[in-house]
Amino acid sequence: MKHQETARIVANRRLNGAYYQIDLRTPQIAAAVQPGQFVHVQYPDFAHRLLRRPFSVCDVDASGEILRIVYKVVGEGTAHMAGLAAGQCVDLLGPLGRGFTLPAPGSTPVIVAGGYGAAATYLLAARSPVPAHVLIGGRTAEDLLLLEAFAAAGARVEVSTDDGSRGHRGVVTDLLVRLLGTRPAAPAVYACGPNPMLRAVCAAVLARGLDAEVSLDHAMCCGVGACFTCVVRQKTADGAGWEYRRTCLDGPVFRASQTVWE
Ligand SMILES: Cc1cc2nc3c(=O)[nH]c(=O)nc-3n(C[C@H](O)[C@H](O)[C@H](O)COP(=O)(O)OP(=O)(O)OC[C@H]3O[C@@H](n4cnc5c(N)ncnc54)[C@H](O)[C@@H]3O)c2cc1C
Ligand code: FES
Repeated sequence: MKHQETARIVANRRLNGAYYQIDLRTPQIAAAVQPGQFVHVQYPDFAHRLLRRPFSVCDVDASGEILRIVYKVVGEGTAHMAGLAAGQCVDLLGPLGRGFTLPAPGSTPVIVAGGYGAAATYLLAARSPVPAHVLIGGRTAEDLLLLEAFAAAGARVEVSTDDGSRGHRGVVTDLLVRLLGTRPAAPAVYACGPNPMLRAVCAAVLARGLDAEVSLDHAMCCGVGACFTCVVRQKTADGAGWEYRRTCLDGPVFRASQTVWE
C-alpha cells in the first residue's frame, strides 16, 4: 500500500564525489518498503518544477521510521536536494513499484551494482537470509558506494573500476562471469546500474541458462502508472512477441529472461 507523507529531514550530507545521503523520518513508508522499491520526492520551494524525482530506498534504520536515500547530483532537482538541511521537510509518495524477490535459503545471492545501483540493492543485501556476493563497479574508486555498509551487512564485496584505481581493472560483469564460473549453488542474480551494464548482466546469465532480476530505472513523470513515459519492452506471456510495460508500476525490477532490449 502506498502512502503520501510529509517527511522531515534528519540528516543530509555529502558521501563522496557527487554522491549524497539523506535520512528522512517517514514512518508509514519506511515500515512498508521492500528492497528495490522507490519513493517519489517533491521538494519544498521548488514549485516551478512540478515533477517529483524518483529515488530507490537504500535502507531503513533500526527504529523502522527513518529511510535513507543515496543520490547523485546530476541536475537541478538533485542539486536542490543537496542544499536541504535537517529539519526541513519534503513530500514523499511511496513505496512505489515492484522490487526484488528475497533470495531463498540455500541459494547464492549475487548482486551486481553500478553507480547508485549500490544504493538500490543495499536493502536487498541487508535483508537477505543468506550472505550475498556483492559486485560493485564504477569508473573510478570515487564512484564505488557503500562498500563498508555492505561488508557490515555480512556481504562478500568485490569491486572493479574502469581505470584500475581500486579492485579489478575492467567492467563489473567480468567479476560476475568469474563468479558464475565457480559454479555457485543455485545462483540468484540481481542487478541495478546503467543500461549497458544491465544488458551485459542479462547476456551473461542467459548464456549460462540462468536468470536475473534487473532494476530498469527509466526516466519517469507520474510514478504511479498514469502517463506511460516510463515504458520498456517485455516479452508477452506466450513469449511470441513483446509489449510495453511501465517501469513505475510493473517494475522497476523485471526478469532478464523477459526483457527485450531495443
Ligand atoms: C526507479 C528509479 C530509482 C532511482 N533511484 C536513484 C537513486 O537511488 N539515487 C540516484 O542518485 N538516482 C536515482 N534515480 C535517478 C534520479 O531519479 C535522477 O537522477 C533524478 O530524477 C534527476 O533529477 P534532476 O532534477 O537532478 O536532474 P534532471 O535535470 O531532471 O536531469 C539531469 C540529467 O540526469 C538525467 N536523468 C534524469 N533522470 C534519470 C534517470 N532515471 N536515469 C538516468 N538518468 C537520468 C537526465 O537525462 C539529465 O541528463 C532513480 C531513478 C528511477 C527511475
Ligand atoms: S511514470 Fe507515469 S506511467 Fe510510469
